[in-house]
Parts: sequence; C-alpha cells; structure tokens
Amino acid sequence: MELIDGKKIAAEIKQELADEVSRMKAEGKKTPHLVAVLVGNDGASETYVASKVKACREVGFKSTELRYGSDITEEQLLEVVEKLNKDADVDGYIMQLPLPAHISEEKILMAIDPDKDVDGFHPCNVGKMVTGLPTYLPATPAGIVELLRRYRIETRGKHCVVIGRSNIVGTPMAVLMSRKDEYADCTVTMCHSRTRNIKDFTLQADILVVALGKPHFVTADMVKEGAVVIDVGIHRIPSEQTKSGFRLVGDVDYETVAPKCSYITPVPGGVGPMTIVSLLQNTLKACKGL
Ligand code: GUN
Repeated sequence: MELIDGKKIAAEIKQELADEVSRMKAEGKKTPHLVAVLVGNDGASETYVASKVKACREVGFKSTELRYGSDITEEQLLEVVEKLNKDADVDGYIMQLPLPAHISEEKILMAIDPDKDVDGFHPCNVGKMVTGLPTYLPATPAGIVELLRRYRIETRGKHCVVIGRSNIVGTPMAVLMSRKDEYADCTVTMCHSRTRNIKDFTLQADILVVALGKPHFVTADMVKEGAVVIDVGIHRIPSEQTKSGFRLVGDVDYETVAPKCSYITPVPGGVGPMTIVSLLQNTLKACKGL
C-alpha cells in the first residue's frame, strides 16, 4: 500500500506557482488577485476561507477577504457580485457556500461573471467542463486528478466508482474520470444515497472516490484488493487521545481499508490540501486568460 501524500504534492505545486508568480512580477505583469466572499459566521466556512487566503499569500497572489453579516439581503449581495464583476483588479472570486437560507445560492452563482468564476460553479463553466472546453475545473475533482497524475496511477479503461452526486464533487468527478484524458478514460459508475446494494458496485471499483459525507462509511468488506481509494470526507469526531478532544476522519474507515489498497489518501493530508491548490491554479488561469 502506498500513501498518496496530498500535503507533499500540494507543497510542490505551491512552489511551482510561487516561481511562476515571481517570474510574472519580474516581467511587470499583473499579480493574480483572488477575492473570497464570506457571509455569516459558519465555523467551517471561516476555516476554509482563512486557508484559501493564507495559501494565496504563500504563493505571492494578492487576496482579499470580504465579510458580510448573515443579515445581508439577496439584493445587497447581488450588488457585491456586480461590483466584483466590474472590478478589473479582481481576477477571480469565490462565494463561500453555504449562504444563509434567505439567499438563493443559484441566483448568486448565476450572477457571477463566468470568466471570474474560479470555483467553476457557473452553469456556463460546468457546460464547458462537460464538453471538454478550456474552463475552470471544480477544485476538489481537479485536485484528485492531479494526484493521480503526479503519482502516475494508471486509470485508462479502469472502473471508477464515485460515491456521492453533489454539484461540487461527485458529479464533476464522474464527468472528469469519464473524459478521454490520460489520467481519466475510465468506465464510471456513480453511486448515491438511493443506490441499492452499494457494496455490489464498490467491490468492482479499481478506483473508488468517496464523497458522500458520512464518517467511516466505506469499510474493508466493500473494497477490492488492490483498489485505489480516494477519500474526500472530513469530519471531526470526539477523541480521548488528543489534546483538542477531537480528531479528523474521512468517509473511509482508513485503519481497515488501507491494507487492502494499492494507493489510498489519508485524512487529513490527502485530498484537502489539493482542493486549495486547484483554486490557486484557477486564479492564475483567470489572471493569464483561459
Ligand atoms: N463550500 C464547500 N466547498 C466549497 C468550495 O469549493 N467553494 C465554495 N465557494 N464554497 C464551498
């Protein structure tokens, strides 16, 4: 079993990005600028946005965090979007989800200029991804494909089973893995909460991507010997063994599943660091042009 070290690969890519930004600056080119909009005070969102802003600074990007209270109206937030769309200094921006219940995420996401949509959530960009046109790829699936590429894990003709059908991870993951690319070209099966006898499918997986959001959902009896297992889940569970009183676990029961795998991503330190790196890559693309 080989561990897929997302933390190490993310650090390598960040160094590559930092080198490129230095070159761009030396040539007098514009510094990439990412804006992250955070509405309300969801704890997880605050952590994610702080990590994104920090990563930008590490590679030499400009980054701005815009915070609004959860009482902001939909109209006011649409005005923020309009302003960002028009601001030539802003290359790309993200609207951290979830938004408060009184604001339509769909309305807000649809208002983002697709050229600045570095999350790749706008239907225009989703359509471009599906048809294979140059666009911003959603961060988590793009980060997973990058891990497969950097570890030279052969995927062509293999069976990739994706558990989860969210717009952010499961659906784009299934699309990317079915595409005619070197680190894709799979036969893809998509499983979700309504799938019957899910083990019948997971046992056929050469590559199993787990993104359903349930701690320790995938157990050893569900995994084929030699499979590549990619764990997208991240959950805090109580623990008496740590000072903080909790530990992070994924959607995969790592202890029992890992010995059966050819490759597996740990939690933390697997997919998570790659998600942020993909956002940086998209922001660089936004600055240079797609
Ligand atoms: N909420 C959870 N994941 C994401 C993400 O990748 N982008 C944004 N904008 N919000 C999220």
